[in-house]
Amino acid sequence: MKLNRRKFITRLLVAVASIEALFLIKGSVNKVASASATNNLFNAGKASSFDTNKLYPFLTGQFFLKRFEDGGFLAMSFKCTHLGCVVNTNSQTGGFNCPCHASQFNKFGEVLSAPATRPLDYFPITIEKGELLIDTKTPIRRSSFDKSQLTYV
Ligand code: FES
Repeated sequence: MKLNRRKFITRLLVAVASIEALFLIKGSVNKVASASATNNLFNAGKASSFDTNKLYPFLTGQFFLKRFEDGGFLAMSFKCTHLGCVVNTNSQTGGFNCPCHASQFNKFGEVLSAPATRPLDYFPITIEKGELLIDTKTPIRRSSFDKSQLTYV
């Protein structure tokens, strides 16, 4: 098949424009990715929207947000501290069960039964303009629960 000069130049221009568009799209995707990578805070929403004595799972953040009776917030990791399986909530105890090797945790994330030996990790919470910001890239290990781990409005 023969191409005349006009068709060749048109196709060449379309190809160059397509390549430029690809680089523009790639550049903007990279900017979005790096912005979220440098800002590791997960916005869970308005603190006032969470009832006391309730547990809220955040699938994308991979944590449970617990608001205790006194209004304090605790963000606990989904990951079992034994070998990292995702724990389930236990509606009877208000705590968590691990489906892999049967570790159990209470509502504060403390170990009720082995093989896990330490409580669920928790994440720092800051409150800005009434919004709960969870630092999901900084899990904190602990040996037990104490009230200093709670965040208040
Ligand atoms: S990973 Fe949870 S008990 Fe083993």
